[in-house]
Amino acid sequence: MKTFRDSEHLLRFALLFAIVFVLFLVVRHFVVPRSFGEYGHYRGAAIAEIAARPIHFAGQSACETCHTDIAATKKAGMHAGVHCEACHGPLASHAANPASVQPPKLDTAVLCVRCHAASAAKPKNFPQVAAAQHSGGLACETCHHPHSPAIQGGGAK
Ligand code: HEC
Ligand code: HEC
Ligand code: HEC
Ligand code: HEC
Repeated sequence: MKTFRDSEHLLRFALLFAIVFVLFLVVRHFVVPRSFGEYGHYRGAAIAEIAARPIHFAGQSACETCHTDIAATKKAGMHAGVHCEACHGPLASHAANPASVQPPKLDTAVLCVRCHAASAAKPKNFPQVAAAQHSGGLACETCHHPHSPAIQGGGAK
C-alpha cells in the first residue's frame, strides 16, 4: 500500500510554508528596530531617548534645602512619608529658578480626597473619610494643616 500516494500535496504545502517563512524573515528584517535586543527584550536606543527627556521632578531633598521649616514640620507629622511633589506636582523648574517660577496653588478639595476618599478597596488601616459628611462642606485645611495633618487635642500635628 502506498502511503504517500499523493505526496505532491505535501510538497506544495512544504513549499508554501517555506515561502511564508522567508517572507516573515524579510518583513521582520525591516520591521524590527535596529537596536532591538541589544541589552534585552526591548529597543536599546530607547535608553538614550528616555535619558534625553527633560527632568520634571526635583526630588524632596532639593525642596528641603530651601524650605527647611516646612521640611521639619512635615517630618514630625503624619505626612512624613508623603513627598513634596506628590502633592505640589513636578517642580524641577521652580527648584532651579524659584524667583521666576511660582508653584501653582493647590486645591485641597481635589488634592486630599485623591488619597483619602473612603473606598472599600483601600487597606482598612489607611486613614480615609467620606469627605462630604466628614468636612461638612468646609475646606480640609480649615482643620488640618496640609504639612502636618493629624488633629490631637485640638492642635494640629
Ligand atoms: C533654591 C531654593 C528653592 C528650592 C530648591 C525650592 N523652592 Fe519653593 N520657593 C522658594 C522661594 C524663594 C519661594 C518664594 C517665592 C516668592 O514668594 O516669590 C518659594 C515658593 C514656593 C511655594 C509657593 C509659596 C506660596 O507662598 O505660594 C511652594 C508651594 C514651593 N515653593 C514648593 C517647593 C517645592 C515642592 C520644592 C521642591 C520641588 C521647592 N519649592 C524647591 C525657594 C525654593
Ligand atoms: C499632603 C500634601 C502636601 C505635601 C506632602 C506637601 N505640601 Fe506643601 N502645601 C500643601 C497645601 C495643600 C498647601 C496650601 C495650598 C497652597 O499653598 O497651594 C501647601 C503650601 C505650601 C507652601 C506655601 C507656604 C505655606 O506654608 O503654606 C510651601 C512653600 C510648601 N507647601 C512647600 C512644601 C514642601 C517644601 C514640601 C515637602 C517638604 C511640601 N510642601 C509638602 C500640600 C502639601
Ligand atoms: C499622596 C497621597 C496623600 C495626599 C494627597 C494627602 N495625604 Fe494625608 N496621608 C497620606 C498618608 C500616606 C498618610 C499616613 C498614613 C499612615 O501612616 O497611616 C496620611 C495621613 C493623613 C492624616 C492623619 C490620619 C491619622 O491617622 O491621624 C490626615 C488627617 C490626613 N492625612 C489629611 C490629609 C489632608 C487634609 C490632605 C490634603 C491637604 C491630605 N491628607 C493629602 C497620604 C496623602
Ligand atoms: C471641621 C473640621 C474638619 C474638616 C473641615 C476636615 N476634617 Fe478631617 N478630621 C477632623 C477631626 C476632628 C478628625 C479626627 C482627628 C483624629 O482622629 O486625629 C479628622 C480626621 C481625619 C482623617 C483621619 C481619619 C481616620 O480614620 O484616621 C482624615 C484622613 C481626614 N480627617 C481627612 C480630611 C479631609 C480629606 C478633609 C477635606 C475633605 C477633612 N478631613 C476636613 C476634622 C476636620
